[in-house]
Amino acid sequence: MKIAVLKERRLHEARVAVSPEVAGKLIALGFDVCVEKGAGESASFFDEVYKNAGATIAASADATQKGAEIVLKVQGPEAAEAAKMAKGTILMAHLNSLTDGESIAALAKAGVTGIAMELMPRITRAQSMDILSSQSNLAGYKSVLDAAGEFGRAFPMMMTAAGTIAPAKTFIMGVGVAGLQAIATAKRLGAVVTATDVRPATKEQVESLGGKFLVVDPEMEKDAQSADGYAKQMPPEYFEKQKAVVAEHMKKQDIVITTALIPGRPAPTLITKEMVMSMQAGSVIVDLAVEAGGNCELSKLGETVMTSNGVKIIGHANVPARLAVDASALFARNLLNFIKPFVDADSGKLELNWEDEVVVGTLVTKGGKVVNDRVASTTKEKSKAKKPAAKKPAAKKPAAKQPTAEKAPTQGEEK
Ligand code: NAI
Repeated sequence: MKIAVLKERRLHEARVAVSPEVAGKLIALGFDVCVEKGAGESASFFDEVYKNAGATIAASADATQKGAEIVLKVQGPEAAEAAKMAKGTILMAHLNSLTDGESIAALAKAGVTGIAMELMPRITRAQSMDILSSQSNLAGYKSVLDAAGEFGRAFPMMMTAAGTIAPAKTFIMGVGVAGLQAIATAKRLGAVVTATDVRPATKEQVESLGGKFLVVDPEMEKDAQSADGYAKQMPPEYFEKQKAVVAEHMKKQDIVITTALIPGRPAPTLITKEMVMSMQAGSVIVDLAVEAGGNCELSKLGETVMTSNGVKIIGHANVPARLAVDASALFARNLLNFIKPFVDADSGKLELNWEDEVVVGTLVTKGGKVVNDRVASTTKEKSKAKKPAAKKPAAKKPAAKQPTAEKAPTQGEEK
């Protein structure tokens, strides 16, 4: 069975879906692996290394895909790329399936069997297949380094002959996988760390890493976590309270890192313009949710904004791709861990079990149709939400920021 590994073509992407190590492991399982020329170069994986692992190199995307039953990518193909894929091909990638309906429709139209790795169920068995975790962990680490790079001061307390330097006060908003790694990294650098999240389970996790938890409303937070471990959409009263608590805290912070996301929805606005204006000159904000609309009103995708009061707001796009080597290596192992249990030992072929929880959860298109309940219900919810807007024309917030887009106005708790 042939596996094609295509070069990524989307903006800001430097990762590759299969590392040479994983290419070798797939070949050992019985697959033929064909890698598009130069696919791994931006992650420092050169064609020669893939060849040494047993893979073949093809000169173009078309040649790489020719005769392949399986295509592995980091990000889903754009509509034009999807149209070129052969009917029945199994595609595994981060398909942005809850927000990019157009690309999902294109995959369905092309008859591709689309596996959206970002929808991996959050069950113990699937932890090693979870691309959101592996990539968010690296993003959380890199966010602290990015902040440190823009901060004109040191992180740890230093007692020197010339005087004492105070430690950097660092505040992490959203304590999921990225937030926890940001706390650990900031602590390692010597910062004084506080953190907040809507999910009460995170209080203990913050404290176990040596941070202090900032509570907003313990009563409302009791019901803030969905059965699958994600944050729920909180009521407007919660956001009012959160704003007041955070506003007071922000005035004293040097570094703020925001990671708050709600799957399939725009990121909640946690930092208003007023809060930014209350910070000291030289402070740094890193908005890791910038691609989902941003947690900070003033962040801009792909830019570092300098405000009139001297605060820098970093909005890097695709932060995991800024650590392309490790991010690709872990992404590739996530794919391998997903594929391996379904490889028939005798034939060396991939035999997906269509009733297995990890397949049911991630399968989005098959036989020309969109087949995923979560994707279908998110699409339905979005089209319902659009209806009143049609009666009363108003500026609608885009699902994700575009590099040149103007900042959308705040609407309730979401921007
Ligand atoms: P995420 O990336 O969807 O969100 C990041 C964080 O933002 C979450 O902790 C969320 O509660 C928080 N947040 C959302 N709205 C907020 C608001 N208004 N104010 C403050 N914080 C807000 O979440 P992530 O990092 O992907 O995972 C969340 C949890 O899922 C993890 O901490 C872990 O417990 C669990 N998990 C389980 C896995 C498994 O069992 N296979 C794998 C990965 C994560």
